[in-house]
Amino acid sequence: MQLELTEEQLDTLIGDVQSLYGYDFGDYARASLHRRIARLMTVDRFVSFAELRYKINSDKDYLARFIDMVSVNVTEMFRDPAFYRALRSQVFPVLATYPLIRIWHAGCASGEEVYSMAIMLKESKLLDRSIIYATDINPTALGVARAGIYPLSQMQKYSENYMAAGGSEEFSGYYTAQYDMAKIDGALSKRIVYSTHNLATDSSFNEFQLIICRNVLIYFNQVLQDRVFRLFDDSLEGLGFIGLGSKESLRFSTVAESYHQINAKEKIWRKGRK
Ligand SMILES: C[S@@+](CC[C@H](N)C(=O)[O-])C[C@H]1O[C@@H](n2cnc3c(N)ncnc32)[C@H](O)[C@@H]1O
Repeated sequence: MQLELTEEQLDTLIGDVQSLYGYDFGDYARASLHRRIARLMTVDRFVSFAELRYKINSDKDYLARFIDMVSVNVTEMFRDPAFYRALRSQVFPVLATYPLIRIWHAGCASGEEVYSMAIMLKESKLLDRSIIYATDINPTALGVARAGIYPLSQMQKYSENYMAAGGSEEFSGYYTAQYDMAKIDGALSKRIVYSTHNLATDSSFNEFQLIICRNVLIYFNQVLQDRVFRLFDDSLEGLGFIGLGSKESLRFSTVAESYHQINAKEKIWRKGRK
């Protein structure tokens, strides 16, 4: 049986995590938070809300586990291949005009989308003059991203995604198989900087020509989405691009007026009027 928290209990827990550790989950979508915390309670065998609350309040090492379970880290390489095709054909030609290309992957999870970007930049001969900042709230996921080691069983699917995204090289050339794991080619990591960054509380740290934030905003309410869009707007050069997930949109945000969608289907916006 799964234990469900009441609204009041959820608020109490969010308040504890905020006041003790500074992580603000107050503007996350409630239904998803309820589901994730119920799952945490089942998996870690808490028999009551009081027990979970005591653990969070008394064991600061448990915070990493809490964040890991509350944040949804599902991802894959070349997820939604058509999105990557649009990047390659519509965004890369513009990026190619800059001497130094700065890209931010916000909410990069375990890094699969970041390596996908590095592969495409390499094939377009842009990787050597790019810097990719890859950030997430979840240090555990970032550890996996840094290591660049993924289950070998995923590679068939990623290879298909890569080809659907317009890749024309041998995908297996981008990793080395070690037992049942695949280690991504270290040369792809050379231009990637990983760091924790919390979209709910942290501020802008650079100016970019491209910001990718896919499948993160769906877990936030409107207030937090607007905060993030303002943060991105502050962090994006004039004429820069923002790429979102297939279920996300900049259209109804407070910065919408300053952007136009460059592709009818893919969620890519450019700063400036058309
Ligand atoms: C579903 S994954 C998306 C991964 C990848 N962008 C993709 O589309 O495949 C959502 C990621 O957002 C991260 N996240 C959640 N809240 C965040 C926050 N406040 N700041 C930064 N990242 C956050 C989670 O840790 C998780 O890794």
